[in-house]
Amino acid sequence: MKSTTPLFHRRYKEALRSHLLAVRGKKAHRTQLPWGREARAAGLGQGDLARLHESILITELLPSCPRRRHTELLRRAGEFFALAISPAPPSPPRGSGPAPSRSALRLGLSIAALSRHAVGHALSNRELARKVEQLTLKAGQLRESKRHVSRCLRESDLLKEQLRRLSRRLLVAQEEERKKVSRELHDVVSQALVGINIRLATLKQEASLNTRGLHRNISVTQKLVQRSAQIIHQFARDLRPAVLDDLGLVPALRSYLVSFGARAGLQTRLSAYHGFQHVDPTRRTVLFRVAQEALTNIIRYARASRVDIILRKSADGGFRMSVRDDGQAFNVERVLQARGGRRLGLLGARERLEMIGGRLHIESTPGKGTILTAHLPPPPARRRRPSGATP
Ligand SMILES: Nc1ncnc2c1ncn2[C@@H]1O[C@H](COP(=O)(O)OP(=O)(O)OP(=O)(O)O)[C@@H](O)[C@H]1O
Ligand SMILES: [Mg+2]
Repeated sequence: MKSTTPLFHRRYKEALRSHLLAVRGKKAHRTQLPWGREARAAGLGQGDLARLHESILITELLPSCPRRRHTELLRRAGEFFALAISPAPPSPPRGSGPAPSRSALRLGLSIAALSRHAVGHALSNRELARKVEQLTLKAGQLRESKRHVSRCLRESDLLKEQLRRLSRRLLVAQEEERKKVSRELHDVVSQALVGINIRLATLKQEASLNTRGLHRNISVTQKLVQRSAQIIHQFARDLRPAVLDDLGLVPALRSYLVSFGARAGLQTRLSAYHGFQHVDPTRRTVLFRVAQEALTNIIRYARASRVDIILRKSADGGFRMSVRDDGQAFNVERVLQARGGRRLGLLGARERLEMIGGRLHIESTPGKGTILTAHLPPPPARRRRPSGATP
């Protein structure tokens, strides 16, 4: 199609619009007549004019016209076009409109019919475009939620893997603990019992012969029994001190620290805020295990001369337990970041604390020693209570 100038386009549109608005008559006559000639003068054929006419209808006039009036609008637009392309009549009768030629009328009718089809197509195209737009939007949302789901899956895989690693480590640690208990029972307790048995056999023989020897042997056997009882007590205390359940955290820690100091030849001190007596069973077990691990490490690695355990209330209403030694320092970050290692003590302590909402902090300074601190948040009941309320 030859392109029309913007000016021609605008003028044709205005004429068409005013034809559609006008009642038939003089005004219509004036606006319609020049178009066929003008188009020809502008070098446009009837086909070019028809395409211009159709594009104005579809893109500019129909969208602003109510649907129920489309047929009427198309009919009148076709009429305008037929008049526009008919050759000018030699002398139109006064007061009447120009008479279009037959072929122009037929062409006008065809244009109206074609326009109706084109309008139908244009409307369904618009509908399709809207649907495509909606689908594109939905596809975008779907892609985003797919990305979100796969992110969640990746995170959950990571967590599962961490959990698996932790479970494996816990199983290994449990196995090690069982081995240790079984070895100690075999090497120490059962040896002591074998010794007692031998002594009893000797006593049986001596009972009828030598009363002085009998007395001495009974004393030795009693010592063996006492020693075995002590060892069994020690085991029981290490595994789960009854005093922890019966009397609470502070007495349990105090008694453990005293026997620890005596065994390791260390000076010990415990200073506690009295609120620690009311720490709930889960928290006191965690704190006791953390202290136990810290003390075991001190015996094994620190070469310290003194140990202090300090139990305090934190500024936020929670609790803080510090185990401080004056021994040799170590690289805390390297130990806590180590992966796949067999060292479980501090990692286990950290995990136990995190499981109840707490955290572990360790500071180790060459020349000063190590301070291991367990922080616990305030108990849930206290966190819910409004401030100022009495416990
Ligand atoms: N108080 C301490 N003084 C000096 N070094 C310490 C102290 N506590 C821990 N360490 C160092 O940190 C390392 C890690 O301790 P951790 O308790 O995690 O593992 P472990 O004692 O080696 O093994 P496990 O506790 O599993 O039997 C120790 O091997 C030790 O080198
Ligand atoms: Mg350890």
